This record gives sequence, structure tokens and C-alpha cells, in this order.
Amino acid sequence: MAMHSSRERPTPPGPDGVPLLGNTHELARDTLGFYERVTAEYGDVVGISVGGDEGAIVTHPEYVERILVRDDDRYVKGGLIEDQLGDTFGNGMFMAAGEQWRTQRQVAQPAFYRERILEYGETVVDHAADVGWPHASVVDLTDELSALTLSVLTDALFGFDADADEAVVREAASAIGAKLDPSAPTAFLPTWVPTPRNLRFTRHISQLRERVDSRIADRRRQDPDQRGDDLLSLLVAATANGELDDQTLRDDMITFLFAGHETTSLGLTYALFLLATHPDEQRRLQAELDATIDGDRPTIDDLPALEFTDRVIDEALRLYPPVFTFFREPVEDVELGGYRLPAGTTISVPQWIVHRDERWWESPETFDPDRWTDDRDSERPEYAFYPFGGGPRHCIGMRLARLELRLALATLCSTYRFEAVTTDLDLATAANLRPAGPLEVRVRRR
Ligand code: HEM
Repeated sequence: MAMHSSRERPTPPGPDGVPLLGNTHELARDTLGFYERVTAEYGDVVGISVGGDEGAIVTHPEYVERILVRDDDRYVKGGLIEDQLGDTFGNGMFMAAGEQWRTQRQVAQPAFYRERILEYGETVVDHAADVGWPHASVVDLTDELSALTLSVLTDALFGFDADADEAVVREAASAIGAKLDPSAPTAFLPTWVPTPRNLRFTRHISQLRERVDSRIADRRRQDPDQRGDDLLSLLVAATANGELDDQTLRDDMITFLFAGHETTSLGLTYALFLLATHPDEQRRLQAELDATIDGDRPTIDDLPALEFTDRVIDEALRLYPPVFTFFREPVEDVELGGYRLPAGTTISVPQWIVHRDERWWESPETFDPDRWTDDRDSERPEYAFYPFGGGPRHCIGMRLARLELRLALATLCSTYRFEAVTTDLDLATAANLRPAGPLEVRVRRR
């Protein structure tokens, strides 16, 4: 039988859209609902149209693996990402391509080696032990944990004290979030159009750039022998020997501040929310902690014994993946699931759908940490779960994030008991999957 060339294959089926705008409006109004509806109706490869451009949603783990791993050289991050995040991340590691990306990844890699990551354990526990929530107080998890993960990140990777920079970074984060909110009527306008959102974004990003420049200058003034080997020192050294230019150094700092801060904080927020709303599972976790650390500070040596803690984290990342989708664009026509996707199609690979697909997950909506026990975990395709992406562009901070999530959860749950105040979780989709409003819990010292 003759093989069909990809040119003869049909393009994928999908919902009809409004002329010109396509599915943009529907997608913006209820992003997650739109993904759910169209993948339920049209299957693993859905054709959509966003802002007049061709798009697709791909949700079979085998195709996800092909895009990210096996055929990764046929895909780039693409125009949509460039339009949405280019103004923030410049040519930093998240955005860069080809040799420029490879150099940045190689320069930063030693800060993320396994042995190096283990050294950050104490920093995580120091900051988590320091949250100082009064007994019986109500706290907004999103806010509190965002401050916590920011201090861990700046302390561990950049060696500076987050307190001085917290306001600048968090205001910039909020301005970026507002700019990327797809439900805003002005969401798709370029940054130079002077909407209030864009003006606010430009003001906060330039304040952040100034602050980052001054931190870089501080480090350069230090005696090279005293600089240590944190990420900032690695980047500064790479500009001195010509591997990176100054602009890329600044873009990388901003990339790491954002890629590493809100994602980790959301992972921790959802894990604690799930524990607060599932008291039995919280008691199991606390029993594991009492048996292992018995009120002491956890250390990296305790991690192998904290099996249930680890399962809670995987289950939280499955149900509420902080990165709920990301995008790729094929550089040539490709074939997936019998359909042709032309070069330049914006392909979304949404964890939100794949992590909740009944074909791979029994009762997918249920918080069930025990689904991660070895016997139940082995049957699933590898890319039914990819909170950190995959292939060469997988998250460079994955080990750090996992270490931080485990140690911070262990420290907080051995100190406090969490009672749900907010019981219904409304979600908002901007750059990351965020709670739409405050996510409150009552904390009691144990
Ligand atoms: C729970 C926490 C985190 C989640 C869910 C997460 C998720 C992801 C995902 C899905 C990607 C791939 C995006 C794509 O392929 O388009 C990614 C890339 C990246 N992440 Fe993370 N991340 C987390 C924590 C961190 C941390 C702690 C850091 C740094 C300290 C970090 C830095 C980065 C960078 C620099 C990239 C781009 C890598 C490249 O393109 O080579 N992330 N992350």
C-alpha cells in the first residue's frame, strides 16, 4: 500500500469560529472550558483558529512526546510565545533558540546539578520555618507562598535578600499577569499601544530591569574570589569571557525570577489547598512527618522516607499544573494522528487536559495521592504527566522545584495544621494557572 505524504492528509477537525476572530473570543472567555469542550468533541488533534491564525490542540501522550522529544528539531517555541512573552523575557533562556539557547543553558547548568541542588535544602527550610503565621490566623496561600518562594529563589540562585526587592518583583509579576490575561478586551494588543495595562506593564518592567542591573553591578564590584558559584556568578563570569552579552544576562535574570517563582509557589499553594480540603490525607502526611522528623527541621536526608509527601506533590501537579499548557510551532508541515499540521501552526499541548484524561487516570477529578504508588503508576504512558515539559527544553529548574516543594511542604505541615476557609477553587488562566481570588486557609500550630 502506498504511503500518503503528509501533504495529502486532511487538516484536523474542530469547532467553527467567528470569521476573522475564529475561536479567540470563546478561548478568552473560558480558556479551560473551551479546551475541555473541544477535546471531548474532536479528540486528540483539534484544529482551532486564534486571531485569524491556524492553531491546534494536541492531547495524546504519544503525540506530546513526539513534539517535545522525538521530533523536537522540527518545532520552535513560535510566534504566539514571542508576542506574549518576548517583551518580558527578551532573549533569555526561555525564549532563545539554536546556539544562543544552547550557550545559555550550558552556562546556567552547573547551578542546577544534582549535588548543587541538595545544597539549597537548608535555604528552603530556613525560609519555610520563618513564615511566622500566628496561631488560628487566616492566610491567603497564594500571597504568602509567593513571598516564600521568591525569597528562596533570590537567596539560593542570586545570593541577595528578597526583602529589598520583593515589592519590585511582585509588582512586575502582577503587571505581567494583567497584561497576559486573555479575558481582557485589549489582551491581544501589542505593548506599544498605550492602554492602561500596557503602560503599567512598561513602567514595572523598566523598574525591574533597573533593579536587576543594579544587582548585577553589585556582583561585578565584588572581588572575583569572593563571588561564590551561584547562578548570578556563573552568568556574570560568562559575560566576562564573552559567552553571553550584557543584555542576555539581564534577560536571563528576569527569566529565572519569573519562571522559577510563581510556578513553584502555585505548586505549593495547590498542594496545601488540597490537604486543607482533604483532612484525612493531611493526617496521613502529618503521621509520615511525625514518624520521620518528629518535630525537627527536615533535611535532604529525610527525603527518601517522605514517600507520601512526594505523592501529594505529584498529585497536586497533576490536578493543578501551574503551567497548564505551552506551545510549539512546526517549522515544516508535520503529521500527527493522521492529520496534517502546516508549518507555522500554533500547537497547544495542554497539561490541563492530558493530566485529567480518563484513558490514563482513574477518577481523574479525585485527589488520590495513592495513584502514585509503584504498582498503579507503571501502566501509564510517560507523557500522560509532564508538569515540567519534556525533551531538550524541559524545565531546568525541575530538581530545585521538586526539592523545594517537598521540603517546604514538610516544614509547613509539621508546624501547622491547615483548615479550609476557601472551599471552591476558581481558576484564572494568564501565564500560569492561578486561583482567581484569595485562597484562604486557617492555620493552627500543631
Ligand atoms: C513547580 C514549578 C515549576 C513548573 C511547573 C515549571 C514548568 C516548566 C515548563 C512546563 C517548562 C517548559 C516550557 C516549554 O517547553 O515551553 C519550563 C521551562 C523552564 N523553567 Fe520551569 N517550572 C517550574 C519551576 C522552575 C524553577 C524553580 C526554575 C528556575 C529556578 C525554572 C526555570 C525554567 C526555565 C529557565 C525554563 C526554560 C528552559 C529552556 O527553555 O531551556 N522553572 N518550566
